[in-house]
Amino acid sequence: MASRAGTMQGRIGTDDPVQASCEVLARRREGAYWLLSIACPSIAERAKPGQFVNIAVGGFGTLLRRPFSIARVSKQGVAAGTVDVVFDAHGPGTDWLTTVSVHDVVDVVGPLGTPFPLPQRKVACLLVGGGYGVAPLLYLAEELTRKGLRVDMIVGAASQERILSQIEAKRLTASVTFTTDDGSYGVHGRVTDVLEEVVENCHSGVVYACGPNPMLRAVSERCKEMKLPVQVAVEEHMACGIGVCFTCVMPMRQKDGTVRMKRSCIDGPVFNGARIAWEATRFDVGPPLLVEPEEAEAPPEVRPSEADLWGES
Ligand SMILES: Cc1cc2nc3c(=O)[nH]c(=O)nc-3n(C[C@H](O)[C@H](O)[C@H](O)COP(=O)(O)OP(=O)(O)OC[C@H]3O[C@@H](n4cnc5c(N)ncnc54)[C@H](O)[C@@H]3O)c2cc1C
Ligand code: FES
Repeated sequence: MASRAGTMQGRIGTDDPVQASCEVLARRREGAYWLLSIACPSIAERAKPGQFVNIAVGGFGTLLRRPFSIARVSKQGVAAGTVDVVFDAHGPGTDWLTTVSVHDVVDVVGPLGTPFPLPQRKVACLLVGGGYGVAPLLYLAEELTRKGLRVDMIVGAASQERILSQIEAKRLTASVTFTTDDGSYGVHGRVTDVLEEVVENCHSGVVYACGPNPMLRAVSERCKEMKLPVQVAVEEHMACGIGVCFTCVMPMRQKDGTVRMKRSCIDGPVFNGARIAWEATRFDVGPPLLVEPEEAEAPPEVRPSEADLWGES
């Protein structure tokens, strides 16, 4: 396996990202999506669920690296040191990735961003994924199960063909509820249509979500109403991926109620969904970028408390 890793300038910690030239081990269809498996021991050994890699892509108009969630890593066995990503081909960068061949070398930086925090107490976890957003949640499901926690899942997609890793989702969880926008599989509707019922049936104490931002907003708002802690991995447009350019900011409500811009690439992509000021994000109309303290709304109380759940001080 070829992987030439260099530590990024100024970074020396064992958890810090590395830049590596990585051999492609596999590139194949995964339903409506593509799976790319690369040999990357230095990234695999550092990676945690929720983090992403930034891949340099070839072709015309592809100066910027493209970010992809880490879908799976192998730390042991014959496949040790591999990192998988799952992607939807819909533009120049992702189209180019469908053309790489086994034994080609790709330039990868990772692992980047914050991982999903793991509960510090026994609690049933509900994972809500939309489209290829299911991929990092399956990696998270493995970690939560390893900690002895119950994991349930809601998997949503536009149609049956766009449901990712149906069998894997069933294998890794106590229950999976499928929803499709067109009703071709599972419940006809959105993940939020079944959220409350699944939370009640599975006694879920915390929700993790990954998928398109409008879905994350809807899930966060429902969780806020149910006073349920919710962690979401957002997908903001990114240029540098390492905290320099501020392309990727998300408006986050602080403890005093004010809103501050946080960079999704280094402060996220995993955020407390109830703290995102969704009304001020770029996919809403007329964003007020800073909210004055007197207009500010304090973040909601949840049960169990965030401090208790995540072990925060
Ligand atoms: C943290 C993170 C994790 C992601 N994980 C995945 C994943 O697991 N699988 C997957 O298929 N896609 C994922 N994406 C989206 C993926 O990065 C874009 O689909 C990809 O960059 C599109 O590049 P393109 O050249 O094919 O398309 P284009 O749309 O032409 O991209 C042009 C530019 O826009 C940016 N861009 C376009 N769409 C997005 C988007 N949705 N989010 C962020 N930037 C975008 C690109 O980086 C590029 O700079 C993730 C994005 C982020 C931020
Ligand atoms: S992508 Fe440049 S700061 Fe986040």
